[in-house]
Amino acid sequence: MRKKVTVVGAGHVGATLAQRIAESGLADVVLVDLAEGIPQGKALDLLEAGPILGHDSRISGANSYDETAGSDVIIITAGLARKPGMSRDDLLAANADIVKVCAAESGKRSPKAVMIVVTNPMDVMAYVAMKATGFPRERVFGMGGVLDSARFRTFIATELKVSVENTHAFVLGGHGDSMVPLPRYSTVAGIPITELLKKEQIDRLVERTRNGGAEIVALLKTGSAYYAPSAATAEMAEAILLDKKKILPCSVYLTGEYGVNGVFAGVPVKLGAGGVEQVIEVKLDAEEKAGFMKSVEAVRSGCAKFT
Ligand SMILES: NC(=O)c1ccc[n+]([C@@H]2O[C@H](COP(=O)([O-])OP(=O)(O)OC[C@H]3O[C@@H](n4cnc5c(N)ncnc54)[C@H](O)[C@@H]3O)[C@@H](O)[C@H]2O)c1
Repeated sequence: MRKKVTVVGAGHVGATLAQRIAESGLADVVLVDLAEGIPQGKALDLLEAGPILGHDSRISGANSYDETAGSDVIIITAGLARKPGMSRDDLLAANADIVKVCAAESGKRSPKAVMIVVTNPMDVMAYVAMKATGFPRERVFGMGGVLDSARFRTFIATELKVSVENTHAFVLGGHGDSMVPLPRYSTVAGIPITELLKKEQIDRLVERTRNGGAEIVALLKTGSAYYAPSAATAEMAEAILLDKKKILPCSVYLTGEYGVNGVFAGVPVKLGAGGVEQVIEVKLDAEEKAGFMKSVEAVRSGCAKFT
């Protein structure tokens, strides 16, 4: 039997994500949204692409959660997106109310599911979802690091004129303005970029990565990025659905790792059928550690509003 994925929020990120998952043939997809007709219409449109693209995934849309029962993976994308000049944190109060309901309603119908939170400010929303569902930290975590790393990889590949497939990048910390790209652990064909690029070049790429979301918001003016965010989330979903044990940066509730307790932050984890199967600790130098701690404290102050 095919696996089942629920995507809550049928907006830009949710609908594109549903498309990626359905077209990969990995799972059937249920798209849920408040807006009447939108999830049903988008689901039908996606379903009708099946004969052309050659996939048999079932895709349905709903305004309530009953159809989501028995999902293997639930992905929360519902909520407001940024407008120009807004930070992710400006979305906090409104999106917390939305995520609380979406996570609780979907979680109780699929109590064994793995939940991925995308809605911003993502690290705090992952905390809200964990509290709302009562899921253990292995089964509720956030998407941010895969996207931030992909942006860093894109900029590295462009700067060095090499294939993106040769680039690996490491971004730690919260998915916000204080995220911590780690050049020492970012490589091209296994060679650290610190040996390939000058400090000024690296600093420029790091800054562009930190601003990656805002750069797109400023260009679009009426919404935020969704092609790369949906690709990043689909990679995480695939790792879970296929039990790949893939190492990916995800926002996880830390319980002592990296010297941090009781807060979500982006760190490398092993993703498999059980969700987060291991948190991987890498050695940080003093400057990296300071950046990570600053980022963690920014998330902690957001979470404090919900404890
Ligand atoms: N974590 C990341 O890296 C990342 C990247 C991109 C976007 N995001 C975030 O993802 C979220 C969605 O972005 P988008 O571009 O798809 O926005 P969008 O406005 O296109 O879609 C949001 C959808 O959520 C729906 N919605 C609102 N309240 C709901 C509720 N209570 N129940 C069900 N559905 C509800 C809306 O009707 C809308 O269709 C935003 O918060 C955005 O900031 C996060």
